[in-house]
Amino acid sequence: MAKDPGRVLIFDTTLRDGEQSPGASLNLEEKLAIAQQLARLGVDVIEAGFPFASQGDFAAVQKIAEIVGGDEGPVICGLARASKADIQACGEAILPAPKKRIHTFIATSDIHLEHKLRKTRKEVLEIVPEMVQFARSLVDDVEFSCEDAGRSDPEFLFEVIEQAIAAGAGTINIPDTVGYTTPSEFGELISLINKNVPNINEAILSVHGHNDLGLAVANFLEAVKSGARQLECTINGIGERAGNAALEELVMGLHVRRSYFNPYFGREPDCPTPLTAVRTEEITKTSRLVSNLTGMVVQPNKAIVGANAFAHESGIHQDGVLKNRLTYEIVDARTIGLNKNRISLGKLSGRSAVRARLEELGYDLNREDLNEAFTRFKELADRKRDISDRDLEAIVSEQVQQPESRFQLRHVQVSCGTSLKPTATITLSEQGGEEQTAVSIGTGPVDAVCRALHILCGESNELVEFSVKSVTEGIDAIGEVTIRLRSEGKLYSGHSADTDVVVASAQAYVNALNRLLDSQLKASIHPQKDEVKAEGIARI
Ligand code: KIV
Ligand code: ZN
Repeated sequence: MAKDPGRVLIFDTTLRDGEQSPGASLNLEEKLAIAQQLARLGVDVIEAGFPFASQGDFAAVQKIAEIVGGDEGPVICGLARASKADIQACGEAILPAPKKRIHTFIATSDIHLEHKLRKTRKEVLEIVPEMVQFARSLVDDVEFSCEDAGRSDPEFLFEVIEQAIAAGAGTINIPDTVGYTTPSEFGELISLINKNVPNINEAILSVHGHNDLGLAVANFLEAVKSGARQLECTINGIGERAGNAALEELVMGLHVRRSYFNPYFGREPDCPTPLTAVRTEEITKTSRLVSNLTGMVVQPNKAIVGANAFAHESGIHQDGVLKNRLTYEIVDARTIGLNKNRISLGKLSGRSAVRARLEELGYDLNREDLNEAFTRFKELADRKRDISDRDLEAIVSEQVQQPESRFQLRHVQVSCGTSLKPTATITLSEQGGEEQTAVSIGTGPVDAVCRALHILCGESNELVEFSVKSVTEGIDAIGEVTIRLRSEGKLYSGHSADTDVVVASAQAYVNALNRLLDSQLKASIHPQKDEVKAEGIARI
């Protein structure tokens, strides 16, 4: 049996696999804010990125290693393909972290070997120990993944895993890369690995999986029963294609059904010790932060973090819940940090009250950021009577999104009504350039705003998604707008929040545009789709 830490380790890959979702790319400040929140959430490992991909990725992993990876904090991990240049870049990027890990991988399925790697099984069996040993020469903690393990020949998988462990890998990860397996098959695969790899007791068995058939979480829970003790997952389940296994679903599954899972850990069913180290009260905040910064909207009926997950519409359900919550609710909303309708601040609240509330919410802002947040709070309080925690979160995540960006929105003016053609006047300033104004008509006010911005930015792009949702209840609520632009086949998202949804739309568009322009400056490599080249480390 593989090593058993006595509980489940949570390996968060929101910043690596999650960021591989179309349109979800994040800048350095955004990645840092998410990493800091993941540390507060209590994950065991943060996969901070793929350092070889670009200078930006390298710098982000390095910054996270410097700032988030303390002695008591999570392990900071970087991804590297099984190539010396990748592993070298990864080792350098994570160097500042006291607890660091290199995660290296190579595909093991015949379909990947033949069509992607163009390598034989024998060649793969030579590469694996060489690369794991090289990674071990840089750090003590090395994880090895067999990409597409779910579709690999188990006999070959056993050989590869044995070699990786013999070369020094302390964690062996089994990815269902294309989300193909079913729960019983995946659980069986983990059992077979436990039975057939002679040195498996020297490593922790980990699982990684995608949600193409909607089975990732179920597969993982079955794997836990067979001895998997590390789960690789993302907040809100974001990730390539249909996404990764969702962290909040796994953690709450293990929390709510602890008595069912306890015996698989050699515990009595009623043992109260948690099965993960995650602070569940931080789940809601983490989910909102990731959604706001990536522009990946959470579907209302999403388990645990969807807006409707705790809403009871039918009269019978409402009546039952009022009599006893357990009639229709298996999770207490407070367990995931959902403080319903908590009104905290208003127009007369001072800077220290705002700072204290932000600190309670987990935002430890420096003086400059606090000043900016306070100014925005005051502006909002002039328009909205009660400022809730959700409003404060919207203000702060908006700030993180807009570091030194190329375009700044200066002015938005719209006229519309029953007998008017919606017309927008927009002024933008460009870094190092002059302010420019454009006017456009549209089918509605938002369309007019987007058309005017399109004239100003001169970039060819297509608006493919526009969504508005209110942060809280009430007519004066802040509206959150998410916009996705497509340019040359790639998606870029922007998010903004304001009591005026037209202003929020303009700002969200500008944020998406800045992201698009930013990415044009940085060539980036995809860890699973681009070819491994020995030369040319893409780092600073
Ligand atoms: O899905 C996958 O196989 C991966 C590996 C790189 C772990 O993301
Ligand atoms: Zn993956």
